[in-house]
Amino acid sequence: MTERTFSIIKPDATERNLTGKINAVIEDAGLRIVAQRRIRMTDAQAKKFYEVHAERPFYGELVEFMTSGPVVVQVLEGDNAVARYREVMGATNPEQAADGTIRKLFAKNVGENSVHGSDSAENAKIEIAQFFTDDQIVG
Ligand code: CMP
Repeated sequence: MTERTFSIIKPDATERNLTGKINAVIEDAGLRIVAQRRIRMTDAQAKKFYEVHAERPFYGELVEFMTSGPVVVQVLEGDNAVARYREVMGATNPEQAADGTIRKLFAKNVGENSVHGSDSAENAKIEIAQFFTDDQIVG
């Protein structure tokens, strides 16, 4: 089933000039980048995006990190894109990520873990709508 997921290439990755290498892993996995924009996330955008984690001890640190430098927001499309991208990213903690995954290859630690991907198709729709309008997505 063709579906869409939302991805963020995080500040630790843009800082090390890894956008192209991460996009190559995404495309090699059969996912299509159907929308992409480099932005500096505002404090309000980051707080809203991560509001499900508002009660977690790392929330403040997470918002600070996500606004600390440029990010690349993306919409990825493909067969079972949500699950496929989660496979390609690897575990949240890079120490537990499988070989060949983006986080195993590039992530620094559980906070600075290079990429975000939606955890469900429902959340993907909500997250995509926070950064893209329908006409900005070209499938
Ligand atoms: P992400 O997929 O962007 O969604 C929530 C983020 O919280 C997660 O990736 C991690 O980067 C971050 N995170 C999760 N656990 C921790 C932690 N223990 N300390 C700092 N950041 C964390």
